[in-house]
Amino acid sequence: MSTPHSPKDSLIIFDTTLRDGEQSPGASMTREEKLRIARQLERMRVDVIEAGFAAASNGDFESVRSIAEAVKESTVCSLARANENDIRRAGEAIRPAARGRIHTFIATSPIHMEKKLRMTPDQVVEQAVKSVGWAREYTDDVEFSAEDAGRSELDFLCRIFEAVIKAGAKTINVPDTVGYNVPEQYAATLRKVIERVPGSDKVIWSVHCHNDLGLAVSNSLAAVMAGARQVECTINGLGERAGNASLEEIVMAVRTRADIFPVETRIDATQIVPASRLVSQITGYPVQPNKAIVGANAFAHESGIHQDGVLKHRETYEIMRAEDVGWGANKLVLGKHSGRNAFRARLQELGIAVETEEQLNAAFARFKELADKKHEIFDEDLHALMSDEAVTPEVEHYRLVASRFHSETGETPQAELTLTIGGRESRSQAQGSGPVDAAFKAIEAVAASGSELLLYSVNAITTGTDAQGEVTVRLAKDGRVVNGQGADTDIIVASAKAYLNALNKLSGNMEKLNPQL
Ligand code: KIV
Ligand code: ZN
Repeated sequence: MSTPHSPKDSLIIFDTTLRDGEQSPGASMTREEKLRIARQLERMRVDVIEAGFAAASNGDFESVRSIAEAVKESTVCSLARANENDIRRAGEAIRPAARGRIHTFIATSPIHMEKKLRMTPDQVVEQAVKSVGWAREYTDDVEFSAEDAGRSELDFLCRIFEAVIKAGAKTINVPDTVGYNVPEQYAATLRKVIERVPGSDKVIWSVHCHNDLGLAVSNSLAAVMAGARQVECTINGLGERAGNASLEEIVMAVRTRADIFPVETRIDATQIVPASRLVSQITGYPVQPNKAIVGANAFAHESGIHQDGVLKHRETYEIMRAEDVGWGANKLVLGKHSGRNAFRARLQELGIAVETEEQLNAAFARFKELADKKHEIFDEDLHALMSDEAVTPEVEHYRLVASRFHSETGETPQAELTLTIGGRESRSQAQGSGPVDAAFKAIEAVAASGSELLLYSVNAITTGTDAQGEVTVRLAKDGRVVNGQGADTDIIVASAKAYLNALNKLSGNMEKLNPQL
């Protein structure tokens, strides 16, 4: 279909699902969840994993550090604002990494400098240079970002980039922080800074685009044509507000249109769909069915004319093969006769760490319970099962012990629940417009959280009527938004678990700084 350019430059894929992705409302992840995603990103051969913002909280510091310890094949990066404390926290967190990067940033647009930072342009340049210097005490791999570059003045961008390159930055990122740019204009900015900044040939030029106008991928790809050699992106396009450029779209565009793009990535594309599912499962952000590459309908041909064409010759309507991006990799892994060793081995293959024998035993017992109800256990089931297991007792203030639901035509649905709250057992019952409503009311009758339900969604994890239902419940309280997940073959039980999981997150200490505030 296409004649590739040759030789190709490498396009560095910098994944920021664990940092910018986590800035999506309610998408905060536990350390264990982040580790699982990081391992999947490593398996996918992502070049750089932005593991978090180490100075945001102790939890974030520990997450970045654990990922730096665990990941060997990808560079592990921490974000840091341009101040000494943030940079030293980032430097400490990435210390165990085989290859560690510090990514420091400061805003450069007139509106951000004046209204947010209350700094003059001279002060901003000085702070940026000092910050790169502090970061270089920890690693040679320092990235500098000019936040809101998309609305910054070109002359000022050139000035600050020249200064940070002299100070030792090796990657220069030109973010369209507010998703304001359009492809031709953004590409022109990249072309101009690359032409004008002394030393530009010694650094990698990077792009980081937000999707407020739905242009994040187009802008990123236009910038690649203009000379950018790193793209910052996220799985499923997760990210602050409308999200970031989606990794799968960037990677597959570059690969599918190898006749146009002068670059290639190292990504193992067959890991894309598993990564997409994992991120969706952990964050509770569903993937829209018509989403490119990873949506359930991305390769489904509905019209008779299309189906006929594809059957006669696949390339009549398909520009990519579903199996090349990991569709159909849905493996039947275990069943009710599988033993503890097979279970442990599959968890290891999936990169799911089980820290103690006790945890393994508890997880295995739950696996057996599930295998009794559902004979075929897929990787997705294991991920869901282990997400439940990963809730440690300290943060599991609320736990479902037993449940009974009654729903009958002509009767008001009713839920009876036994919960533990802070270790003490408590019973509750309530009626509702349906069994889920009744279950949530029964929980609130004893938890009295006062939170507001923003979202309730149910998804089947795999196919078949015996599939586990995966429920997401988004709750808001005092300005905080959290997503809770629960999975079970009984969707009412899954719903109650998801509600309790969200309450646990609200009650846990998940306070942290947003780097951009
Ligand atoms: O959008 C943005 O500008 C960022 C920076 C911190 C790179 O996320
Ligand atoms: Zn961003």
